[in-house]
Amino acid sequence: MRVLSGIKPTGKLTLGNYIGALKNFAQYQSDHDVFIFIADLHALTLPIDPDELRTNTKLITAFYLASGLDPHKVTIFKQSDVSAHAELNAILQNYLYMGELSRMTQFKEKSQAMDHSGIGLGLFAYPVLMASDILLYEANIVPVGEDQIQHIEITRDLVVRFNNRYGKVLVMPEPQVTRVGKRIMSLSDPTVKMSKSESGKGDIYLTDDLKTMRKKIMSAVTDSGSEIYVDEENKPGITNLLTIYAALTNQSLEACVTKFKDYRYGDFKKEVADVVVNTLGPFQAKAMAFLHSGEVDRLLAEGAKKAAIIANKTLVKVKKAVGLI
Ligand code: AMP
Ligand code: TRP
Repeated sequence: MRVLSGIKPTGKLTLGNYIGALKNFAQYQSDHDVFIFIADLHALTLPIDPDELRTNTKLITAFYLASGLDPHKVTIFKQSDVSAHAELNAILQNYLYMGELSRMTQFKEKSQAMDHSGIGLGLFAYPVLMASDILLYEANIVPVGEDQIQHIEITRDLVVRFNNRYGKVLVMPEPQVTRVGKRIMSLSDPTVKMSKSESGKGDIYLTDDLKTMRKKIMSAVTDSGSEIYVDEENKPGITNLLTIYAALTNQSLEACVTKFKDYRYGDFKKEVADVVVNTLGPFQAKAMAFLHSGEVDRLLAEGAKKAAIIANKTLVKVKKAVGLI
């Protein structure tokens, strides 16, 4: 079975990225064929400074390694290094329709915030490139956070449409979301997703110093009342903190509710902060060591070579199917 996922090197990675995506990749590496990449072409879909893009790309690679991904077992690469992504994108853009692309939540949310004349075509066509990423590697499983499921669903629609027309060419992928933590919410407003692009006190960044992380958790918005239990509607703040704790300690939500039954909010938050700091502290140290080891560039170059072999095979299959060769 093949597994593929990627993260865009935009903004600062958050605890939401860590719990919803990053932390779940390494579990597949001993018994699956795993491809993990940096979605740098996707990063261009919103304005980004070139130096920021370069720095973020290296940092994400270091985060991948720090999360336990072993480059001997997993292929780690940069999307733009494998030209087959752009080539398959050019073919597949003809098989997704403007109507269905305009219904994508991510496009609607991101374009709403922008001046209409300044919305790049790439933002609109984002799911075509994402489908190309997935289909090139014939991925069976795509681990992502909840917000990306819609893009995998549209990829699945594309597979049906394409294969109906040309025969069994493309492999059907399946999204996989983590049981606990598929959508981590902002600490300052637990009704919105924790996100890279916010710059508020509600988002824990993987690069925050540990004191700042602790402070953000201790000042997280809680709910009225004093009891600790799961109720997304009436207790979104407490539910979010319970989810963070459960995800980082690999426990069920129920087990955590039992543990914290008689706690006061302040003591509960302190334990959540301890777990976050004790997880991300060593994680940061590992990432920084990789970043400064000088290994990142070499590793990405090797990864791209391995990835290109698989990707080019699929590209040839698709080109033959549609009549380009
Ligand atoms: P992005 O930041 O959009 O590149 O997202 C990278 C990965 O992190 C995707 O699989 C997202 O679904 C996941 N992700 C982003 N934010 C969150 C969040 N707040 N909770 C859970 N998963 C998230
Ligand atoms: N769109 C994803 C995000 O914003 C990143 C991504 C690009 C991706 N291509 C992918 C994730 C293919 C999984 C598979 O988070």
